[in-house]
Amino acid sequence: MQKIALDTITEAVINHGDRGKSHPRLYEIYTSLVKHLHDFVREVKLTESELQQGRNFLNQASHHTQKIPTGEIHLLTDLLGISELVELLHNVYRGTESNLEGPLYVSNAPERQMGDRLGLDPEGDTFFLSGRVLDLNGQPIANVLVDVWQPNSKGLYDLQDPSQSQGNFRGRFKTNESGQYRFETVVPLGYKVPSSGPSGELLRLLGRHPWRAAHIHFKIIGLTH
Ligand SMILES: [Fe+2]
Repeated sequence: MQKIALDTITEAVINHGDRGKSHPRLYEIYTSLVKHLHDFVREVKLTESELQQGRNFLNQASHHTQKIPTGEIHLLTDLLGISELVELLHNVYRGTESNLEGPLYVSNAPERQMGDRLGLDPEGDTFFLSGRVLDLNGQPIANVLVDVWQPNSKGLYDLQDPSQSQGNFRGRFKTNESGQYRFETVVPLGYKVPSSGPSGELLRLLGRHPWRAAHIHFKIIGLTH
């Protein structure tokens, strides 16, 4: 039997089982993960109490709470940059930079007409937004849908706010012959990622803030190339 020591334990863990015969991709991911985790433990010389803290953290992050019904594992992958890294790795577009869709997109936003108002918010500051969808040669692309969604002037999406009707500050606009779209809306407020749980505590301990800059989401639907 192989002696387990600092320099043999990683190979000992990896070389168990059928070594990827039945599930090669799983084995590839598993072996790489084990190697990196072991290297990480060696590098920082993780102590037993730190390991226990890490276990407690992951345990808490996986709990389903009223505020975050799905738990914080997804949030954690976002905060660690892993979600965006996977996006950047696999969705390589020429032209517009790639970005995460996020959890607040819905696929059935109301279809609106050129110049329409995107949503109602009596306290918001109105502004008009227009743009053009162009191909890589700068030529307009007509008849594609520009799917837009944003929070209101309080930083809340319709899904998070019972005072807003469904579809408020969401809309799909079809581009005209010049590739143009245009709508009226209010200035959105930036919002915080959920920060009342263990992920928020981690941000605080690291001196990171939970705020996202005020933004409007755009997704172009119907491109054939
Ligand atoms: Fe957003």
